Amino acid sequence: MKQNPWKKDFPQLNNQLHYFDSAATSLKPTSVIEQVNYYNQQLSSNINRGMYYESQKATELYEEARETIAKFIHADLNEVVFTRGTTSSLNMVARSFGLNHLHPGDEILTSELEHHSSILPWQYVAHKTGAKLQYIPLSDEGKVTLESFEAAINDKTKVVVINHVSNVMGYVTPIKEMVAIAHEYGAIVVVDGAQAIQHIEVDVKSLDADFYAFSGHKMLGPTGIGVLYGKSDLLDDMEPLEYGGDMALDVMKQQFSWKESPTKFEAGTMPIASVIGLKAAVEYLQNTGIDNIHEYSKNLYDYFIDKIKDIKDIEFYNKSSDTFMFTFNLKNVPSHDAISYFSEKHIALRAGQHCAKLIHDFLGIHSSLRGTIYFYNTYEDVDFLVETLIEAIDYFKKLGF
Ligand code: ALA
Repeated sequence: MKQNPWKKDFPQLNNQLHYFDSAATSLKPTSVIEQVNYYNQQLSSNINRGMYYESQKATELYEEARETIAKFIHADLNEVVFTRGTTSSLNMVARSFGLNHLHPGDEILTSELEHHSSILPWQYVAHKTGAKLQYIPLSDEGKVTLESFEAAINDKTKVVVINHVSNVMGYVTPIKEMVAIAHEYGAIVVVDGAQAIQHIEVDVKSLDADFYAFSGHKMLGPTGIGVLYGKSDLLDDMEPLEYGGDMALDVMKQQFSWKESPTKFEAGTMPIASVIGLKAAVEYLQNTGIDNIHEYSKNLYDYFIDKIKDIKDIEFYNKSSDTFMFTFNLKNVPSHDAISYFSEKHIALRAGQHCAKLIHDFLGIHSSLRGTIYFYNTYEDVDFLVETLIEAIDYFKKLGF
């Protein structure tokens, strides 16, 4: 049985947990926990505001985190805005860019595969501006293909809002090719990278995406911190969403001016501990190597798929080894009934619609169970999951489901 060299770095795995809910949030390695503690125990102070050592050091670490993240995604420093998470980043683009640039007759192009945070803010923008929300037809497998995208985009399309990896199906979207097509039509592309950044190399310059959003907590970092990457000319053109401390350049009685990006978007006291923790998370990913993470996870996913291939009475909705996500139901068993069986065995899966109702409508189901294999999972975790799946099928059958 293959040894897992990384499990020891994740203290939460010292107990009986079999964690397959990494698409909801990832576990945190010791190095991240230590950096958050270091700030809270030794540096607790505000940034950009104090001359004393603790404040200066915290400011230095906060800006070093921006540098680390900028390098990680190949962005320039002023293009990395700290936010509360992917949802905040996507809302910021919709409200700051969308509300100010869209007009009646314009179209926003998205898909039924999106998380609600890529749909609801743009429904709001559409209602406010008179623009129309349009959907790229999905393939039978539930994928966005280049062919369907090309058929759906037109001269009225001003914004394309699309995930890099679906949070229900786990498929990788051909972002680079879609961006090139969108730009030919003069549309900008907003990418939800929440499920991609922890699995695949993201180079925003090579993708040429206009905006790219992701969360710290899905990439080994703390909760409460996320990133909005935006091309600098677009960020320069955007109004801040929040006004207050530290973002103002000059304040007069009736008006004020704001600082340049990213500071103009980071009003008030930011989640400093989480930013510093996110730096440690990115360093952990870099030291481990996204390629090594991918290779180990793929081998374990293939092992899982091989073990379950002959089990009947499970309905799988995706066939994706892109990001090792498996979305399924036990036949005739509502996902919220099934989840209680797994939870009792300390197997963490997610049940429900995963904040993506439209893809469930597309699949013709009410809800599903979702798991993800990540690099801290072990072969023993997978064996136990498969054993429990078989037991659960039997248990619910006996109950008459
Ligand atoms: N958006 C997260 C998920 O897909 C929470 O589970």
